[in-house]
Amino acid sequence: MKHLFEKGKNRNKTLLLLHGTGGDENDLIPLAKHIDPEANILSVRGNVLENGMPRFFKRLAEGVFDEEDLIFRTNELNAFLSEAAETYSFDRSEVTAIGYSNGANIAGSLLFHFERPLKAAILHHPMVPRRGVTVPELNDLPVFIGAGMNDPICRPEETEELSDLLKGAGGNVLVHWENHGHQLTSSEVEAAAAWYRENLN
Ligand code: MLT
Repeated sequence: MKHLFEKGKNRNKTLLLLHGTGGDENDLIPLAKHIDPEANILSVRGNVLENGMPRFFKRLAEGVFDEEDLIFRTNELNAFLSEAAETYSFDRSEVTAIGYSNGANIAGSLLFHFERPLKAAILHHPMVPRRGVTVPELNDLPVFIGAGMNDPICRPEETEELSDLLKGAGGNVLVHWENHGHQLTSSEVEAAAAWYRENLN
């Protein structure tokens, strides 16, 4: 997958960055540096194009995922993470994902399909990636969910549903609410950074 890797001062920790629809691997770099300036950064570009806009999996309509492609792309990303860990010599079990919107959805999908594919996850405005499946045991895996009270894409009910599913599988979930829509605000980023310091340092 197209990506960039930056070795950190602290080679034990890696932040996996997953952009939103229409973004690319450069978008979340400033955010990652703010959250953990010493961690390695692995930032990936989604392999799917929707009218020229990169995404991590296909969708049939706004908010309606192409489930077959979602599963295929989730497997592809999971395999890529193992490959990258070898190539760049980082610890595959020390990866924290930071995803926004479509990127948060594929990060959530990793948690729905694999046993401990990540150490932790910061999900900005995620949706429920799949319904009707059993989420693998999360064993206290820390998850930060940033959500907007007025988000028309990831509605509050869906945020609660995702949080309940992850908690039901043993995840240690914090939902942070902003009085905004789908956008990623600086106060949400600050809340994620504070949560990271508390949970992962
Ligand atoms: C998705 O398709 O993953 C969600 O609708 C979020 C987005 O707009 O990318």
